[in-house]
Amino acid sequence: MDLFEQQQAEFIGRHIGPNSIEIAEMLKQIKMQNIEELIEKTLPASIRLKQPLQTGNSMSEYEYLTTLKTIAQKNKIYKSYIGKGYYNTIMPSVILRNVFENPGWYTQYTPYQAEIAQGRLESLLNYQTMISDLTGLPIANASLLDEGTAAAEGMAMLFNHKNKHTDNIDSPNFFVDENISEQTKEVLKTRSKPIHVELVFGDYKTIELDQSYFGAIVQYPNKNGQIDDYRSFIEKAHNQDAQVIMATDLLALCLLTPPGELGADIAIGNSQRFGVPMGFGGPHAAFFATKETFKRNLPGRIIGVSVDANGNRCLRMALQTREQHIRREKATSNICTAQALLANIAAFYAVYHGASGLKNIAKRTSLLANMLSNSLSKLGFKNENAHYFDTLQINVDQVEKLKEIAESKGINFGYNANKVNISLDETTGLKDVQEILAVFSKLTNNSIDIEKLDNIELLTNIPTELTRTSEYLTHPVFNTYRSETQMMRYLKSLENKDLSLNTSMISLGSCTMKLNAATELIPVSWPEFGGIHPFAPSNQWEGYQQIISELENWLNNITGFSATSLQPNSGAQGEYTGLLTIRAYHEHRNETHRNIILIPISAHGTNPASAVMAGFKVVVTKCDDHGNIDMDDLKMHAEKHKDNLGGLMITYPSTHGVFEENVIEICNLIHELGGLVYMDGANMNAQVGLTSPGNIGADVCHLNLHKTFAIPHGGGGPGMGPICVNEKLAPYLPGHFSLKNSATAIPAVSAAPYGSASILLISYAYIKMLGAEGIKKSTEIAILNANYMKSRLENDYSILYTGKNGTCAHEFIVDLRPFKTSAGIEAEDVAKRLMDYNFHAPTMSFPVAGTIMIEPTESEDKAELDRLCDALIEIRAEIKAIEEGNSDKIDNPLKNAPHTQFETIEGVWNHQYSRQKAVFPIEYVKHNKFWPSVKRVNNTFGDRNLICTCEPVSSYVNEA
Ligand SMILES: Cc1ncc(COP(=O)(O)O)c(C=O)c1O
Repeated sequence: MDLFEQQQAEFIGRHIGPNSIEIAEMLKQIKMQNIEELIEKTLPASIRLKQPLQTGNSMSEYEYLTTLKTIAQKNKIYKSYIGKGYYNTIMPSVILRNVFENPGWYTQYTPYQAEIAQGRLESLLNYQTMISDLTGLPIANASLLDEGTAAAEGMAMLFNHKNKHTDNIDSPNFFVDENISEQTKEVLKTRSKPIHVELVFGDYKTIELDQSYFGAIVQYPNKNGQIDDYRSFIEKAHNQDAQVIMATDLLALCLLTPPGELGADIAIGNSQRFGVPMGFGGPHAAFFATKETFKRNLPGRIIGVSVDANGNRCLRMALQTREQHIRREKATSNICTAQALLANIAAFYAVYHGASGLKNIAKRTSLLANMLSNSLSKLGFKNENAHYFDTLQINVDQVEKLKEIAESKGINFGYNANKVNISLDETTGLKDVQEILAVFSKLTNNSIDIEKLDNIELLTNIPTELTRTSEYLTHPVFNTYRSETQMMRYLKSLENKDLSLNTSMISLGSCTMKLNAATELIPVSWPEFGGIHPFAPSNQWEGYQQIISELENWLNNITGFSATSLQPNSGAQGEYTGLLTIRAYHEHRNETHRNIILIPISAHGTNPASAVMAGFKVVVTKCDDHGNIDMDDLKMHAEKHKDNLGGLMITYPSTHGVFEENVIEICNLIHELGGLVYMDGANMNAQVGLTSPGNIGADVCHLNLHKTFAIPHGGGGPGMGPICVNEKLAPYLPGHFSLKNSATAIPAVSAAPYGSASILLISYAYIKMLGAEGIKKSTEIAILNANYMKSRLENDYSILYTGKNGTCAHEFIVDLRPFKTSAGIEAEDVAKRLMDYNFHAPTMSFPVAGTIMIEPTESEDKAELDRLCDALIEIRAEIKAIEEGNSDKIDNPLKNAPHTQFETIEGVWNHQYSRQKAVFPIEYVKHNKFWPSVKRVNNTFGDRNLICTCEPVSSYVNEA
């Protein structure tokens, strides 16, 4: 390589941890001559790719940013008044700098290890409290993927609620008011069909509900901005035992009587306008709030209050077992990754502004809307909305001409036949109102002055009977951090409690916590990407178009498939979408009866959950003692169900970290019997450049871009789960009302046409900067790192499942079960003890209970791998001490882990081991100690006493 080629390939060495000397040392440790030998011994020859990937050459970070700037400029940032659920907003700079652009926040994992996640748990509890307060409903979850999904989850929850006591579906009907957002309608259509819900569209004022209805959805303010009083409709629904979902807007609720006070059972919506850029559709956190009755049926993750081993208050993810297992084939929801980072940002927005600040923003926006309406009427344009918050609906005869004038001035309105919607937001000022008026003046050749505001409290556009009187956000957290200094310190104090990738490696098997490079992330903050409305005219997002089409081509090439949909916004959503394409394929061949999906027992819980939601019956098949699919059992089930076989879901390499030798045979078997093969792409980090789902014979796969393709986990989202399909399934990829669709496309699965489009930039950058060579090398080093760690640990621990040559793929399972008998030590004790060694535990008890699964990824250098190995070896010695009677069975560093700073320093030390042993058990910790902020969290207490919002202020008074 000459100097210039070296410069082009520089990012490869930044992304991949080990350098060439370390690679040589690691190969020596695992007794391999070179990487090729390792790969040959690990991957069956039959599935190896014959051709290199066609994803281009690598590019330096500088060149990438320069190139991307040119692409970015193809996006035109118009002043957008389109509304429809997406608004301009201002992310406070203190949040932009300290959270959105801070790896201390965006590289966190889902808070399964609560003791080292108290910061984000507190913020998510703030989010739940904010949602609960603003909607007037007592229980809220910690975010959902988007508003459409939230509506669909609400529908499914109510459907199951009313129909649970009968085998028949007595109440299949769900009423959908015609004035809810188009994207919500579309997702409801998609999600209702497979579960046999009948949607009835109509006008809530005239619909006659009866016992056949289990629920209804209305929107407040509705899609045109009109505010209606739904109280009598809700009462009518309740009289028929039907429950009501209100889709709503958080900013409007600062001024309007909340859904809970109107009698609604569920409130859903999008928290985007609380400081999160539109980003051409996402990511944003949707919300879901409901009544106490449903608290154990709530979809998604819920943060709850509990106590730690010393009886101190702490937080945790509540009802975790319910979520982790996603109830498999009995599932009613498949939500796993959601939108944690965006929920945190929305919550911080509320913490920073407080109730009064939010109310001022809402009032300003609404007053400007009122002014605009009055001024337009003077120009002869009638606002159809008698009552509204921020959106006017104006009748215009010459819509095309108005559009032309508006666009010539860089302005977008929402258009629908001869109606023009104008939605104002917190960025709108008097000057903007003048500019809007200028557009209408030009149309009529009239001009007027903007009305002077005589009384700024005058909100005649908000109906008196729906004016909010109840207080909200009274909790201290929403009333303390007003100055930037206070806010900055609050954010830092939370960040300090959480272990993220900027502290140490997070070796979570199946989750691929690799580097999320700064250069990959920086453009997500650029206004050319953040400021685009998802329903803007297509000539305004040509930059996005280029990125989308290049990325689709690359993903097709990487997976060996022919088409990609970037719409699903999580892995589980990808599974669901892929399965719907399989359904559509069978339907179009008049084989609707093919409704059985085979799923091996080792599959992730979302697999069966997604299959059930997509209308399939799940048949679980066995695995053999080596973790491979049990071929005899699979054949038996496949034969038994051959007439109705829809397909098979398979994870490859398996969730046990092994490349199964007979994968091609498995795919052939399913195909011969008329089924299709779905491949869960969670483990793509072991495939890219070496083999591919297409190559092994699958028909469709999803990719977790938030695993293999460098999107950060954000503490539990955002994610992206695009699906890639072969020619058979390409006609059925999801459409969207805002795009031109093929006649066979299934309806939308996400609210926005390209899901959380702005974070596609991260995966785009990842592939562009690494190039074909770099992404393949990443896979090879991921496999090397795993095998190196396995080799260093196998003298002390038994490793479950390896391939026929004794190698693992990109992850491996460490068996901790024997220690339960030998020393009374469980997997959880090891996980918590690792915190004292500065490490986040690997994946616990998946796919095998009582084990940990380690996935180091290619981004970790040898020194870091060694630190984790040293920690685990030292922990093994601690277990041995118990086994040999040199350490107490109960009072030992494992059972008491993790150890906090406070308990170590305060008063007397009553343990049979030293303070040093407790908190500085190994040399490296002395130089960079990470302190868990609470002791071991009591899980059962939290589940039994479910509290999902900040406690009332009174409880703090008592404490004080
Ligand atoms: C094997 C496997 N499949 C599917 C999923 C679901 O992906 P997501 O969390 O993005 O919905 C996961 C998540 O960890 C997984 O490990």
